[in-house]
Amino acid sequence: MDYMVRDIGLAERGKNLLKWAEDHMPVLMEIRRRFSVEKPFEGIRIGACLHVTKETGVLVRTLKAGGASVALAASNPLSTQDEVAAALAVEGVNVYAWKGETKEEYYNCIALVLKHQPSITMDDGADLVTELHSGRWNLKVIGGTEETTTGVMRLKAMADRGILKYPIIAVNNAETKWDFDNVYGTGQSTIDGIMRATNVLLAGKKFVIAGYGHCGRGLAARARGMGAHVVITEVDPIRALKAVMDGFDVMPMEEAAKVGDIFVTATGNKNVIRKEHFEVMKDGAILANTGHFNVEIDLKGLEELRVGKLKIRDSVEEYSMRDGRKLYLLTEGRLVNLAAAEGHPSEVMDMSFANQALSVEYC
Ligand code: ADE
Repeated sequence: MDYMVRDIGLAERGKNLLKWAEDHMPVLMEIRRRFSVEKPFEGIRIGACLHVTKETGVLVRTLKAGGASVALAASNPLSTQDEVAAALAVEGVNVYAWKGETKEEYYNCIALVLKHQPSITMDDGADLVTELHSGRWNLKVIGGTEETTTGVMRLKAMADRGILKYPIIAVNNAETKWDFDNVYGTGQSTIDGIMRATNVLLAGKKFVIAGYGHCGRGLAARARGMGAHVVITEVDPIRALKAVMDGFDVMPMEEAAKVGDIFVTATGNKNVIRKEHFEVMKDGAILANTGHFNVEIDLKGLEELRVGKLKIRDSVEEYSMRDGRKLYLLTEGRLVNLAAAEGHPSEVMDMSFANQALSVEYC
């Protein structure tokens, strides 16, 4: 057996989590029944870089039922559910993932997946494909899939430069993915992550969301549902206008920074909240990101401004400013829904991962 997980003794608990997810993922289970009979992946090696959650576990089991062998690394250093990783390892999946990987460990795990010489890749954020194109690997890949908006943007940039070596299906762009997972999944799981991390009352709070794409829109609806006063910042004028007509306050971050109690980035862009914003924020402001990479909050800028830093509880770091104000950063600026909670609920991942399973079969 070839795997690297936090604690293989967690496998029994992981099995129960997988069962719970399976009971809430009827579409994928229906596909699994067919794959078990037809065995479309006999002799195929799949290399996956996905958040190692119970829902991903159900997907991996489905691919295995179809005859595939699967090697799996996490698509974020903080998103692995260690119980699930252990359960999959016991079942013969080559899992290289644990919660709290260093940057070096994270990329090492991706390299271990590529050592299995996959002929199909599954990615969430395009780190696996980027490593595969680094020049260090010589693999024969038939095709791949990409789960998320940020990954699709990176792959399109590679395709535009003519350097993408094989076709990749943008699973993210299926209507049955982004109209549901990105909206309702991100909406609920981001609120869940903030609440598990902080337990603050959302009712009455000024809740600033950067970005009014599918994710921002879903989050805005759920934050409003919790009684928060939602403020949107958005650089795209049409999206900004949509936010206005959906009944939200819309303003530039320069203004929002002065009034917000909780800030969440959902843009896919770099340095959306930065020094000039930290400088005018209220004492006690909470900062979180729900975009794929930890680049939306300018962490370097925050480090430069702080005079003290304290881990106040799991997932919460207190940054003390020179003037005595305190700002609270959740999950090191990494995606709060997966790092502090369990990611999107099973029912919505069922739709996304049904698309994944069928896309792999198409490849
Ligand atoms: N992305 C967001 N939520 C997820 C989940 N529960 N499993 C896998 N990937 C996800």
